[in-house]
Amino acid sequence: MVEAVETTTLEEKPNGFPGVKVEVYVRPGDARRALKQEVLEGLCNTPKELSPKWLYDERGSQLFDDITRLPEYYPTRREREILLAHAGDVARLSGATTLIELGSGTSEKTRLLLDAMEEAGQLSRFVPFDVSESFLRRAAGTLAREYPGISVHAVVGDFEHHLNRLPQGGRRLVAFLGGTIGNLKPAQRARFLAELSSGLRPGDGLLLGTDLIKDRERLYAAYNDSAGVTAEFNRNVLRVLNRELGADFDPNGFEHFAPFDEHNRWVEMRLVSRREQTVWMQSLKRRVDFAAGEVLRTEVSCKFEQHRVEAELDAAGLGLAAWWTDEAGDFALSLALKRG
Ligand code: SAH
Ligand code: AVI
Repeated sequence: MVEAVETTTLEEKPNGFPGVKVEVYVRPGDARRALKQEVLEGLCNTPKELSPKWLYDERGSQLFDDITRLPEYYPTRREREILLAHAGDVARLSGATTLIELGSGTSEKTRLLLDAMEEAGQLSRFVPFDVSESFLRRAAGTLAREYPGISVHAVVGDFEHHLNRLPQGGRRLVAFLGGTIGNLKPAQRARFLAELSSGLRPGDGLLLGTDLIKDRERLYAAYNDSAGVTAEFNRNVLRVLNRELGADFDPNGFEHFAPFDEHNRWVEMRLVSRREQTVWMQSLKRRVDFAAGEVLRTEVSCKFEQHRVEAELDAAGLGLAAWWTDEAGDFALSLALKRG
């Protein structure tokens, strides 16, 4: 079992409520070791691939936040529209007193859920959970100030490894918003859902955001925006490798390209080498060769239909209690309850 490597109280509130508790399961040293391992397996072989979680250092998290405001990037606005219409239903149907948010980022849309749960008089605790520590600490501090009546308990963890560390107690609702579940491939997703479900008690809930299959041109535009913010977000992973592994990637030597893969039903973020080039990674004492046009895959973003989401939840012992979409049918929120 993984023990918390650090538990701190970020801030004591003057009104006597407990401050923000922060539990850390991923220290920078652990993350660097995991990155090294992944690079040895994923970059030194063909085809080249990295996990999307490395996109989210401080700058990458900020760039994702910028993406959410792009005219072409509809998921965030659509999910907010659904939450505006149904946050009250979520509070009522889940009956939850604790809200846990996986991959919480800024938790901006989550305020709609927190408000609805507070209004229903049932909210006692909020648990933002993210791998990006500095971003999480800042967001948790801000939320604790905005919601002085609840306890905020932040967890720095990897949702592929530390779901067994989710705090217990009370009726819990786990929110996994933004379509981030789509950044896991089908087998990873099945593992993730099974593990999450095994830690829930009957009646606990999952509120899941999923992006839906749609017009290919709109999908393409959302991931290849005209201002080039997504391209910068994608190339940022090379800066992460330069900093963390002493690598000498030239980010301008790679082109961003994110096509829709019809077979796998996912948008695939790629970095395409503009020329034949060799990169040196000092801390691994290894070189990586790229042919001109060679692809490094940095993320998949799966797009769904209702029957697939329902079947995947069902296979994990989670029964669909509600399915809501925005008016245009672009994005969906599912509420699923753990079966008894
Ligand atoms: N939920 C927010 C943010 C989505 S961006 C929204 O809907 O807008 C994806 C978030 O997941 C980032 O904050 C990133 O740091 C986090 N994340 C990515 N991989 C993760 C992992 N393996 N474990 C925990 N958090 C992860
Ligand atoms: C966080 N995640 C759901 C985003 C997505 O749409 O898959 C990440 C992203 N990648 C490119 N643009 C946004």
